[in-house]
Amino acid sequence: MTKQEVVLSENLQQTLSAAVRKVEHDRLFVLTDETTRRLCWPLVSEMPCMAEAQMMTIGATDENKTLESLTHVWRCLQEGGATRHSLMVNLGGGMVTDLGGFAASTFKRGIAYINVPTTLLSMVDASVGGKTGINFGGLKNEVGVFNCALTVILDAEFLHTLDYENLASGYAEMLKHGLISTEENWAELLRFDLQRVDYRALGRLVAKSVAIKERIVEEDPLEHGIRKALNLGHTVGHAFESLAMAEERTVLHGYAVAWGLVCELYLSAKRVGFPADKLRQTMAFVRDTYGTFAFTCKHYDRLYELMTHDKKNTAGQVNFTLLGDVGDIRINQTATREEIMDMLDFYRES
Ligand code: GLY
Repeated sequence: MTKQEVVLSENLQQTLSAAVRKVEHDRLFVLTDETTRRLCWPLVSEMPCMAEAQMMTIGATDENKTLESLTHVWRCLQEGGATRHSLMVNLGGGMVTDLGGFAASTFKRGIAYINVPTTLLSMVDASVGGKTGINFGGLKNEVGVFNCALTVILDAEFLHTLDYENLASGYAEMLKHGLISTEENWAELLRFDLQRVDYRALGRLVAKSVAIKERIVEEDPLEHGIRKALNLGHTVGHAFESLAMAEERTVLHGYAVAWGLVCELYLSAKRVGFPADKLRQTMAFVRDTYGTFAFTCKHYDRLYELMTHDKKNTAGQVNFTLLGDVGDIRINQTATREEIMDMLDFYRES
């Protein structure tokens, strides 16, 4: 997996033109979803570098991160005459950058692609680090490959297009990056006011957050070791998300991760001594920002089963990344069924 260039853009036209020019290509394709086509494509469509672009659009939201949408993109590429020397630009949130990255990585065994993330979630997480894929068989990101975009363009201008829920969703991944880095980063994130957003300050926090992820991905691109730190909150978060998907409840990814962080910090406190005061402070922030995920003890078996399907597991044991303290990362931790049930009890009762 080659190292990708992450560009903090202050002038999208300049940065995107430079990124497109950098890659010799015969045809240019742009992937959007229905929402980003309406809200974000107009910010880009008049740029000279987009003059020859062929548009591809898929349905918005995670329900469309499917084999059908992927097939649609492959078909558009094929019918549009894409060759191995074509270039694809993914303009959208994590769903578009994940699915578009997978389509580009597999079409004719791989064509070059650029990510232009338009959501906070995608800026700080999905678009960076080369994880691509689709949901399959009721499980999140079940099929995919590691393959980095050539360039990822982060432009804070897009943050103005986001509603509170989508900002909060991305912010959960930033909170995760704070928890796995330093106490200073974590505390600064807890102080930020998501109700009255200071976009310049948010831009600075985004840059710090992405730098944390880049450092980890550079060290361990294929997730054999330290990259597992980025899975904090996700073992439980993905189970909540999959349960919600099965019950046709809409839950944004970051909300599920935030709730998952609370559960996994509780497990961290029980297993490896994560400090109780930091657990309380993080829980208060998560409750105020994200509310709580509603489930009953009738859901426990299903949630446990979903956790056992997680990609990070080995030999039938549920694998977690835990923290001994902020920044004290403990990868490859397992928990028994009883410990997981106790964690779910704690979440519901608190
Ligand atoms: N989203 C976690 C990772 O990229 O490893």
